[in-house]
Amino acid sequence: MTVIRSVVRGIGSYLPARTLTNHDLAAMVDTTDEWIQQRTGIKERHIAAEKECTSDLALAAAKKAIAAAGIEPESIDLIIVGTSTPDNTFPATACAVQAGLGITTGAAFDLQAVCSGFVFALTTADNFIRAGQARRVLVIGAETFSRILDWDDRTTCVLFGDGAGAIVLEAAEGEGTTADRGILTCHLRSDGRHKEKLFVDGGPSSTRTVGHLRMEGKEVFRHAVGMITDVIEDAFAATGTSAGDVDWFVPHQANRRIIDGSAKKLGIPLEKTVTTVDRHGNTSAASIPLALSVAVADGRIKEGDLVLLEAMGGGFTWGSVLLRW
Ligand code: UT7
Repeated sequence: MTVIRSVVRGIGSYLPARTLTNHDLAAMVDTTDEWIQQRTGIKERHIAAEKECTSDLALAAAKKAIAAAGIEPESIDLIIVGTSTPDNTFPATACAVQAGLGITTGAAFDLQAVCSGFVFALTTADNFIRAGQARRVLVIGAETFSRILDWDDRTTCVLFGDGAGAIVLEAAEGEGTTADRGILTCHLRSDGRHKEKLFVDGGPSSTRTVGHLRMEGKEVFRHAVGMITDVIEDAFAATGTSAGDVDWFVPHQANRRIIDGSAKKLGIPLEKTVTTVDRHGNTSAASIPLALSVAVADGRIKEGDLVLLEAMGGGFTWGSVLLRW
């Protein structure tokens, strides 16, 4: 049976030039490089320059993805930006990216699912493509979390970083089997009962301010591995695959202990797990496309590889995508 698949044509990423090391942070709050590395695996993160906005990061990543795909920007008929740190409350950061690319056709919108933003955006793009409503979709995860951190709160300010990653997806015919290239299955979940465990204490309708990120770290940690593995089991069940079939596991990069714990529970060896949290910190919706970019650039992920993505974050929201690169 012939089916429409969303195939990755190109990928690109962008990290702001400035890095902030754990040692730098130790001079700002009561923390140590040892504590941060032991609890999170993070060594350094990138921080956007004063005038650099989320759309600037997103645009830089998008241009690289489009160049890698070898396509004209005007041929893109949908742009989705996964972000929780938009330039402005409105319009969508995706509209700034669209204008920056010189595209005047198609549609552009933001999608807000915090750290699960890229998985939610990829799933949305896949549905547009399979419904025949878009042929080429630019999916971006871009964040400037440095702007919503409370730099006096050592329990959160050491965890996050800024960055962006982008993917060009294109409709292609497949056979309807797991040998097809492209997205094979997507699974999204949310449970708003946990909305106060990881949130920003401001917003246009509540405080009329931007607010700061607040997190019950231990509570998030407690739920993370179970939620992640559940939704990955759903992906395996839907496709008749198993952990042994996965060539590369590219999880959301929140914490090294969560990544290792999930891989272990699933039976995926650490050699097949892509980890960038040490250099990027948690970049929320940008973490997966940034990690994918690194693993494609260094030759680990190749055409035909089975790649498993997962994310979990504020809401709670969580999800998985299984695709053949
Ligand atoms: O993208 C999804 C969103 N986020 C996550 O996935 C994060 C999930 N949570 C975590 O990664 C971990 O819970 C943290 C890394 C945030 C914290 O690790 P933990 O092992 O759960 O530590 P804790 O919060 O229980 O804190 C242990 C101690 C506390 O001191 P006392 O009360 O034992 O004296 C904290 O005050 O560590 C202290 N502490 C710090 N010490 C040095 C908290 N932050 C720091 C810090 N430096 N930056």
